[in-house]
Amino acid sequence: MMETKVITCMETDDMDCLAEAGEILKKGGLVAFPTETVYGLGGDAMNPSSSRKIYAAKGRPADNPLIVHICRWEDIYQVVSGNISCRQALVNAKKLADAFWPGPLTMILPKSPTIPYETTGGLDTVAVRFPSHKTALALIDRAGGFVAAPSANTSGKPSPTLAKHVLEDMNGRIDMVIDGGAVGIGLESTIVDLTVEPPEILRPGFVTCKMLEEVLGSVETDAAILEDAKGLAPKAPGMKYRHYAPKGELTIVSGNRDKVISYINSKIKEEKLQGRKTGVIGTVESVGKYCADVIKSAGSREDELSAAKRLYGILREFDEENVEVMYSEAFAESGIGQAVMNRLLKAAGHHVVKL
Ligand code: TXA
Ligand code: MG
Repeated sequence: MMETKVITCMETDDMDCLAEAGEILKKGGLVAFPTETVYGLGGDAMNPSSSRKIYAAKGRPADNPLIVHICRWEDIYQVVSGNISCRQALVNAKKLADAFWPGPLTMILPKSPTIPYETTGGLDTVAVRFPSHKTALALIDRAGGFVAAPSANTSGKPSPTLAKHVLEDMNGRIDMVIDGGAVGIGLESTIVDLTVEPPEILRPGFVTCKMLEEVLGSVETDAAILEDAKGLAPKAPGMKYRHYAPKGELTIVSGNRDKVISYINSKIKEEKLQGRKTGVIGTVESVGKYCADVIKSAGSREDELSAAKRLYGILREFDEENVEVMYSEAFAESGIGQAVMNRLLKAAGHHVVKL
């Protein structure tokens, strides 16, 4: 065990408070930091030993590659192969960067020889992201420009959306946590693979397929991440693990609103008779109608982003309160709703009841 130092640095603060954090990263240590999506667990992306430490701290399988975070577009040329055969991928990367960087989009590109295989989980491709969060950008700059960072949770737990979540999982395992308050989006970045033609979405996020198509023309979505894809192997190594898994049993119920509420309530009554602690994820519009022991609101139906922002925190709270059986309403599959449903389906082990 080591001592984990916690500092506070909001986006509006003077970034001088990051001097020590930058030094820790340069010396090969680990610092968790806020981004606009979720908290990341950072190490120097060019240092193989830092990457190995990240895997150890998370308990993450070594074949699950990390994302390299940069703070300037030009730095991509040190991350990505300059090989002539990679030119088209880079042309597409530039178009996407002009539209969405800095921001919640990760691109898969052929890796340059300077990026260690420890960082890419042995792959010849590399995931790159240029985040928009001010604290993250200042930290990456102070660390030398290249920060490898997965989400700062223990492997198999929901990604952290508050510094408190990071400490629950990482206290005593990393050098520092930078508390920047609640993250903005609450779900991990969209991942698009530019090494294939047409480009393919490997993980849905805030930047939707439609938004990518407006820039690139046709874009596909890895069939394994769609709703009815039981049994297909996802192409992003990390998507195959049962992430975001709450301790209790979660079922998603979709269909007509009134039917969903009465179905969930009838199930909850049965479970309570068995002596089990029950939970529900509803919305502002419906939470008053449930009879579960623990009832959580994912925000308003009118506001798609609120469910994204609340979901991981809710799953952690259910664990803390030892809820044994949970039901969640389904969310609209448009916009960021698709990313919310993707994470919810994984948490539920694809257990869905359609009314
Ligand atoms: O929003 C985010 O992306 C956050 C913040 C911290 O930036 N990071 C994050 O990292 O979610 P992580 O490690 O939890 O998820 C990275 C995903 C994994 O599913 C991994 O398998 C995939 O990206 N990935 C990384 N490199 C890849 C590659 N070369 N090819 C395919 N998938 C890759
Ligand atoms: Mg993760």
